Amino acid sequence: MVSRVIPVDPFDLIIFGGTGDLARRKILPALFRRYCAGQIPQEARIIGAARRTQDADAYRAFVADAIKEFTTPRHCEDGTLDGFLSCLDYVAVDALGDAGWQELSAKITGDRVRAYYFSVGPRLFGPLAKRTKAHGMVNDQTRIVVEKPFGHDLDSAKALNATLADHFQESQIYRIDHYLGKETVQNLMAVRFGNMLFEPLWNSQYVDHIQITVAESVGVGGRGEYYDRAGAMRDMMQNHLMQLLCLIAMEPPAKFDPDAVRDEKLKVIRALDPVEPHHIVRGQYLARDGEAEEHPSYREAVGNPRSTTESYIALRTQISNWRWAGTPFYLRTGKRLKARSSVINVMFKDAPHSIFGADAGRHANVLSIRLQPNEGITLKVTIKEPGQGGMRLVDVPLDMSFAEALGPEGQDPPDAYERLIMDVVRGNQTLFMRGDEVEAAWAWTDPVIAGWEARGDVPKPYESGSTGPGDAELLIKRDGRHWQGINP
Ligand code: BG6
Repeated sequence: MVSRVIPVDPFDLIIFGGTGDLARRKILPALFRRYCAGQIPQEARIIGAARRTQDADAYRAFVADAIKEFTTPRHCEDGTLDGFLSCLDYVAVDALGDAGWQELSAKITGDRVRAYYFSVGPRLFGPLAKRTKAHGMVNDQTRIVVEKPFGHDLDSAKALNATLADHFQESQIYRIDHYLGKETVQNLMAVRFGNMLFEPLWNSQYVDHIQITVAESVGVGGRGEYYDRAGAMRDMMQNHLMQLLCLIAMEPPAKFDPDAVRDEKLKVIRALDPVEPHHIVRGQYLARDGEAEEHPSYREAVGNPRSTTESYIALRTQISNWRWAGTPFYLRTGKRLKARSSVINVMFKDAPHSIFGADAGRHANVLSIRLQPNEGITLKVTIKEPGQGGMRLVDVPLDMSFAEALGPEGQDPPDAYERLIMDVVRGNQTLFMRGDEVEAAWAWTDPVIAGWEARGDVPKPYESGSTGPGDAELLIKRDGRHWQGINP
């Protein structure tokens, strides 16, 4: 199956922080792949803007290196790369001063779509917004893209929203949560609202509970300073897991349009119960046995021997509305776990009565939506165990691997950034967080964090390469349930 690529109209994309890590690893390779796919026209202009003084050729060389490092070789054919590089330009600008702005504004003319990607720390959002406006670089076709962390708590998120609102309309602001750009995350909506099969069962009458797991095998890497201030709750739970929860739990929007979808997500966040202290388990990873140098402990990795920041969190929450009252949602995420595996498991209830007697055991359907790796969907159904003798039951998976079902397209879906940047150019905000959503997510998160700070809770240590602290098992076991495995 080959998907249709619809080219976008020529646009200007200005990447503030154009020499930074995100630009190098994600934004520029994503743009290149869309160029290779024929979606970005040759007349598009991509302008790197950063403090470093260099000319456009030096920037092109930097971008060529980034592309070679972060895209697969087949994306890097001769000629294609040169074509892409000729769309690039560079201007040295000072976000906090006047240098470079006149030159930049002179390059941006006409009424094509112009997108400013603020690939910089949040403290520069305000100064950049002010200067783009002051230099007459903003028109009706202007969009700005901002990255997380979008605030550190509710107050800082409100302040950031207010700063951006001073210069831009909400319809011009694209807040990226890259999980929303992942192929299977969007498939969640397709599975729920494109099939008759699931929606009638999608409620507390039939669903026993839901598990959302985002497990990473990597540690904090070189981001220790940021991470130690954030922790798993702010870095992952408040945004990525919260967005997954919203898509799983929301009511069907009347149409697939930005505000219809985001209104429904917002209702979910606002209906979340506060999390009880005994429904939270925080953990911190230890060094891997015998490999302390290569795989240091969390505290060593962040250079803070007394850190009480969590690299793992599991919690249980509930949604107080008609559809979900009484159905627990168990969420967990952590670093240095057994495998990289992000899965949502919808655990259905047992059949109300077993006609096969007690020997047949207990069986319940499980719908597993695998976000990464091996994107796909599995439905566990109960059948008769083959063979002679009594009626014994066994659970087997109905497995749909996207790679197998969709051929090459399923094997190599576009990276989240490819999809999201093209949505910015097309002006589609469906997969971006609205300001009120972000604030509602912080309003739920803040008391959870304040609670453990006030209690002086310390995270539980866990082995690198494990499934997390033992207490996380107890969190769910106490309710007579168990986590599904973390498998690569
Ligand atoms: C980022 C977090 O938002 O998401 C990182 O800041 C995390 O800590 C990353 O590693 C995970 O993204 P992905 O796409 O690799 O699952």
